[in-house]
Amino acid sequence: MIAITRDVSPSVNQCELTHLQPEAIDVERAIAQHEEYRALLASLGLEVVRIPADPAFPDCVFIEDTAIVLDDVAVITRPGAPSRRGETRAVADVLARYRRLMHIEEPATIDGGDVLVLDDRIFVGRSQRTNEAALAQLRFHTRRDVIPVDVHGALHLKSAITRVSRNALLVNRDWIDVAPFRGWTLIDAEEPFGANAVLVNDVVIYPSAFPRTRTKLERDGIDVRTVDASELAKAEGGVTCCALLV
Ligand code: GLY
Repeated sequence: MIAITRDVSPSVNQCELTHLQPEAIDVERAIAQHEEYRALLASLGLEVVRIPADPAFPDCVFIEDTAIVLDDVAVITRPGAPSRRGETRAVADVLARYRRLMHIEEPATIDGGDVLVLDDRIFVGRSQRTNEAALAQLRFHTRRDVIPVDVHGALHLKSAITRVSRNALLVNRDWIDVAPFRGWTLIDAEEPFGANAVLVNDVVIYPSAFPRTRTKLERDGIDVRTVDASELAKAEGGVTCCALLV
């Protein structure tokens, strides 16, 4: 497996904010934390590819929003925030080495953070960033079952729900209706922002800021490795946002 990452932009303090109030981001510390995250991915056996940051794009470290990568195709998104649309070009150039590319076109908008792929089904958050037109285009490009999930109060679907094992999802039910996830074991996050985790080869990468949820996951037998992601959390980014897993 390959993890494509993008470096922290020196302009990250100008990032988009939807639900959070601005707080100064220590850029050097954010870079160091991002390095720790990449090192953890590498230690789990992934080849880590780095795309340089572009100062024109404050949010470019959140590379997950620029593409949806499946086994047979990668769909380049059209991000919901106009300031982020130009982020996709450099990512598409790299992804083209690994996958056939399809592109989401106007009037559709979609952020990869709203896309949760669970086996052969694709759950898509209808959020402030992702619209109905995008769901139709994604269905067409992927030939998969695309299931809408309304998101309220969170930036993205994956702020509210992520996979933590073969059969379990970590969830914050305040932000989504979990009915579409019938059949899955649901683990309730103990902290409101604690539902965002990355599952890599049976290991969960998880922010150190949420110890109560971490303990709960470990009690369920899940192997959790924590990272300090506190600086990029101020930019409304979680651990899924910082990598495209190919
Ligand atoms: N700051 C992350 C985003 O709003 O897309």
